[in-house]
Amino acid sequence: MVTGAQAQSEGAGTVRSGADLPHVMILATGGTIAGTGATSTTTVGYTAAKVGVEQLIDAVPALRTVADVTGEQVFQVASENMTNTLWLKLAKRVNELLARRDVDGIVITHGTDTLEETAYFLDLVVKSNKPVVLVGAMRPSTAISADGPINLYNAVILAGSKAAAGKGVLVAMNDQFYAAREVTKANTSTVDTFRSSDLGALGYMQDSRPHFYRVPIRLHTVDTPFDVSKLDALPKVDIAYGYENVGRTAVDAFVASGDKGIVYAGVGDGSLHQDVKPALVDARKQNVVIVRGSRVGNGIVARNGEANDDQLDFVVSDTLNPQKARILLMLALTRTSDTREIQKMFQTY
Ligand code: DGL
Repeated sequence: MVTGAQAQSEGAGTVRSGADLPHVMILATGGTIAGTGATSTTTVGYTAAKVGVEQLIDAVPALRTVADVTGEQVFQVASENMTNTLWLKLAKRVNELLARRDVDGIVITHGTDTLEETAYFLDLVVKSNKPVVLVGAMRPSTAISADGPINLYNAVILAGSKAAAGKGVLVAMNDQFYAAREVTKANTSTVDTFRSSDLGALGYMQDSRPHFYRVPIRLHTVDTPFDVSKLDALPKVDIAYGYENVGRTAVDAFVASGDKGIVYAGVGDGSLHQDVKPALVDARKQNVVIVRGSRVGNGIVARNGEANDDQLDFVVSDTLNPQKARILLMLALTRTSDTREIQKMFQTY
């Protein structure tokens, strides 16, 4: 049991009175951070999305030494089951809370499987400069050396810090924090799984405070045109994956199912298999917007490099991985179907 006094000494470097603590809302959505395992050594094969937000907060008494925290259970899902409906509910709630003068920042606890996607979606649709920080865990709350408590503590400090304002949506994991646009889950099971490999973390959490070394360059939050406040659905966009001997089946199926956009995760610099290219051309003829991306995970997909995008009227994904290119394309399609405008968006956000 951690006493109040001990919690005070364990908290931020300088003990602050409740009056000047930032008010940080913790919005819980599920995931392993809220997971439970059969034993203290169960770190795989546990059940995600079981523990409620109040239990998460009570498990980290030091939270109350660094912020005035309020918890809210927005929903409780394993994040592999995330949906557009849940995203729109979360985004609208975040914007509603950030518009309140008494809310200084928001932490969203989330499963790690799609955490990077939710983070980027919010990076494009949150309309506030106040900090929004997503956090998860790779070990359930019942495990030895569970990483959730320290991740949550760091996320609350970051969300309550003035330094994090105006930096877009951030992801705080494993003593580091990242830009939503660039971070990805890079390991199936280790606590250091979140990385922005080529471009790196924005900084470190140490001594109960954020240490920034980089800031995001691409526009985000209040500087994007994407507004979900009146939306109750998002355009249907899917990802077709490139590989040896790939055929046109997936692309044709997506078109037949009514997709408005398709991201093709090509090999190398977004190269198109000879059997897939005709399917993408046919899709474009049916006004499906095509984004030519890459499965590689790092680097710029060069426009007119491995394909004549000008002639094909394709968009290229810049450095966004396929799952993030899909998110930007979905939101772009809520504004326009003009591929020149959409290409500008991929070079801006
Ligand atoms: N079911 C996975 C999820 O909710 C667990 C992974 C995790 O949260 O670390 O994303």
